[in-house]
Amino acid sequence: MNQLEIQKTFPLIAKTVSGLEDVLAAELETLGAQDIMKLNRAVSFSAGTELMYRVNYACRTALRILKPLFHFEILEQKDLYEQIYAFAWEDYIGPENSISIDAVISYTVFTNSQFVAQRSKDAIVDRLRDKLGTRPSVDLENPDLKVNVHLFKDSCTIALDSSGQSLHRRGYRKSTGPAPINEVLAAGLVQLSEWDPATPLFDPMCGSGTLLIEAAMLAKNMPAGLFREEWGFMKWRDFDAALWEAVKEECKALISGVKLNLHGSDRAERAIESARENLQFTGLCDDITLQTCSFEDSLPPFEKGFIISNPPYDERLKIEDSLVFYKMIGDTLKRKYAGYTAWFISSDLESIKFIGLRPSRRIPVFNGPLECRFIKFEMFSGKKGFS
Ligand SMILES: C[S@@+](CC[C@H](N)C(=O)[O-])C[C@H]1O[C@@H](n2cnc3c(N)ncnc32)[C@H](O)[C@@H]1O
Repeated sequence: MNQLEIQKTFPLIAKTVSGLEDVLAAELETLGAQDIMKLNRAVSFSAGTELMYRVNYACRTALRILKPLFHFEILEQKDLYEQIYAFAWEDYIGPENSISIDAVISYTVFTNSQFVAQRSKDAIVDRLRDKLGTRPSVDLENPDLKVNVHLFKDSCTIALDSSGQSLHRRGYRKSTGPAPINEVLAAGLVQLSEWDPATPLFDPMCGSGTLLIEAAMLAKNMPAGLFREEWGFMKWRDFDAALWEAVKEECKALISGVKLNLHGSDRAERAIESARENLQFTGLCDDITLQTCSFEDSLPPFEKGFIISNPPYDERLKIEDSLVFYKMIGDTLKRKYAGYTAWFISSDLESIKFIGLRPSRRIPVFNGPLECRFIKFEMFSGKKGFS
């Protein structure tokens, strides 16, 4: 690919978790994206190939980066197959390649996204068989080309997924607990909290350490994809390996050696073992200390600081009595954590009232299908802030 082609810009769509659109837009702007527009669970922008690689490598709050190929109107179901069949797929893949289709639909003539994916796949493989004699295979796990079909009302967009596997798969999770937080959500929460890396940070229910690792990677400017090995665009015909290497080297050169003051604890020994394994892999052991301890028995690891935590919500991780558990969080904060700013995410909107403190902010955000609140408590020394 020559320099002129590299400079060409095209529209891209970064998908994210509901509630992180603002953070993602800010990240994309910092990375150099143009024409940024916030959408629902996504941000559109324009970029050239170099920036598409950079965003895939460095952006923390994008789940995937889609490159739209074409749009069309769907008035009746047969339009889907016909329009997709009409596209020159042979310019992108051959019979020796594999494909997979992701379909997202809302308010359309179709009611089943699996059916939309199936028909779209049929159109692509039929086209290739008719043009080239044989058809590509389907590989749901590790396809050569991942196609995204987005149907909203009568408008259909066909895009290539430049990320391949979701970008929350950072490649550093060597061990995990029963309910790890999604890495993209964790990175987004750290940014929403406006944590300053100079402030000590504590996660008292750290599980496998995701929030702390994402905070440390952010503070040290470590690219989100530093430990990941594969992206979708690496299998595209126009993949520019030299440009990709240059982008990675440029990003890595910005990593800072700043020493951080982060601490994680969890009452489960197994969780701390997982967190330790992940820290060892990421090389963050000097920045993050760990301890097996329940929050109620904890001693503040710092005189003052920040808490960001993802307690159990009684969904994936069951708790015996949610009200008692959330009351314990409030009591522990009041008894021991004066001087701290504490943020908790939970979908248990009834039980979090039993924390019994007045939140200074409540940010709606989704954890998968669960509607959550990310809630801030400021634990002033003295009476202010305690209710
Ligand atoms: C939702 S998980 C946190 C997952 C974590 N963010 C991660 O990515 O792996 C909640 C964690 O709270 C821990 N936990 C539950 N009750 C606790 C308590 N009283 N004190 C400390 N940790 C507790 C559980 O052991 C579990 O690891």
